[in-house]
Amino acid sequence: MQSMDKKRVEEMIDLAIRQMEFSYVPYSHFHVGAALLSRSGKIYTGCNIENAAYTPTNCAERTAFFKAVSEGVKEFDAICVVGGKEGILTEYASPCGVCRQVMMEFCDPDTFQVILAVSREKYEIFPLKELLPMGFGPANLA
Ligand code: THU
Repeated sequence: MQSMDKKRVEEMIDLAIRQMEFSYVPYSHFHVGAALLSRSGKIYTGCNIENAAYTPTNCAERTAFFKAVSEGVKEFDAICVVGGKEGILTEYASPCGVCRQVMMEFCDPDTFQVILAVSREKYEIFPLKELLPMGFGPANLA
């Protein structure tokens, strides 16, 4: 499980699962919850928020990132993502490409950990670089 503390991972899974209660998903009924761990140790949560015009829909991961960044927090260590139809968790809900790109903006792809979970007992951890190989990020414009 790499260097992440098991207790911390379980805490993030619990928070992400709880967050699905707030998902606004009248169109897909697919609930997604996220818990984003900042470098300071504070956890920012997020849920997906859909829209009748579809494209303004915001994923749970981006909700969590934008909550944190809007409060001046820009350094992160890990994110936990859970999701399922009607909020029932049966398999991993893997972040969409847009969310991976937002992670790339604020996180080191070598060290940032993405925790995909179904429960406290069933989860896997991937470094961002595995989910977004050869990603384009701020370093490319430096
Ligand atoms: N969704 C997320 O919240 N995160 C992802 O990374 C994938 C998709 C949401 C968007 C939409 O509300 C629903 O899942 C179905 O696509």
